[in-house]
Amino acid sequence: MNGLILGIESSCDETGVALVRAQAGGGLPVLLAHALHSQIEMHQDYGGVVPELASRDHIRRVLPLTQAVLAEARQELADVDVVAYTRGPGLAGALLVGAGVACALGAALDRPVLGVHHLEGHLLSPFLSSDPPEFPFIALLVSGGHTQLMRVDGVGRYAILGETIDDAAGEAFDKSAKLLGLGYPGGPALSRLAQEGDPAAFKLPRPLLHSGDLDFSFAGLKTAVLTQAKKLGDGLQARRADLAASTQAAIVEVLVKKSLMALDATGLQRLVVAGGVGANRLLRAQLDAACARRGVRVHYPELHLCTDNGAMIAMAAAMRLQAGQQQPNRDYAFDVKPRWPLDAIAG
Ligand code: KG4
Ligand code: ZN
Repeated sequence: MNGLILGIESSCDETGVALVRAQAGGGLPVLLAHALHSQIEMHQDYGGVVPELASRDHIRRVLPLTQAVLAEARQELADVDVVAYTRGPGLAGALLVGAGVACALGAALDRPVLGVHHLEGHLLSPFLSSDPPEFPFIALLVSGGHTQLMRVDGVGRYAILGETIDDAAGEAFDKSAKLLGLGYPGGPALSRLAQEGDPAAFKLPRPLLHSGDLDFSFAGLKTAVLTQAKKLGDGLQARRADLAASTQAAIVEVLVKKSLMALDATGLQRLVVAGGVGANRLLRAQLDAACARRGVRVHYPELHLCTDNGAMIAMAAAMRLQAGQQQPNRDYAFDVKPRWPLDAIAG
């Protein structure tokens, strides 16, 4: 055994491959190399991800990326012990590419494979940072399709405390950005424009802020942005930055307040932020300030590992194996789970 785990991510619009080495003494697995190809440019003309194009592009990219990762880590394919892949949730055709390649490699090398939950990958991605967290912690998981607050007591020990009842925070960023005529993906574009605007310019709703629970709702916010944009009519162009800043402020305020409520409710002193929206600078600044006041430690993934990547999949696989949460298998069935709640894998 070399302790080498290859991870393949292909759930949406990024092909990611990475190699980690598990540590014999029980220390955190070490990332040896990772490579990523983003399809953003390809989907940009369509204003969103085109699933069929995504699948075809994953097919083109996955093996060259695997070769690049092995070369960078100075390892041979034959030295890989376990091939991990994203089993879900995500686009079915896109997931099948990663699963198919992982199972084919596993069968050819006579090595077992391991299907990883994409959100567990995000959740554990801060363990790849230079300041890894310790269990237990509260996790704010904010990706394009999910917004959840969780209590995390260990690998595979996840209790969902609250989640969105409609749109995810990333979706609120993306849909509002579209209404403002910004490109895809909307989150980074909207937050860039927001830097030039006044966050107090428009009064937008803070949905479920005072609901008393830890659930979120962002669908109404998008409608409020649409109403403001219509009201402005031809004047929208001149006020776009103000509207972007006001939208971002509303989303961030709700995420920050509810995260603090989750810390209060559990008495935990540690917060982990993961998923694409975790790259948002205003969210990071406000969480840092609020948590510093309370003596709470906040952990983030490295900025470039906030959005989808292979490193988080290889890392989650290695941590699950180390914790004895999952055994790799030689079924090579490449059954994917496009819809798959995270609590389904919680022990
Ligand atoms: O985690 P992720 O890469 O993919 C999913 O698993 O969904 O998250 C993508 C989401 C998109 O909605 C994107 O707009 C958002 O993360 N995002 C951001 C930023 N960077 C990515 N939202 C706000 N600010 C950002 N800087
Ligand atoms: Zn993701």
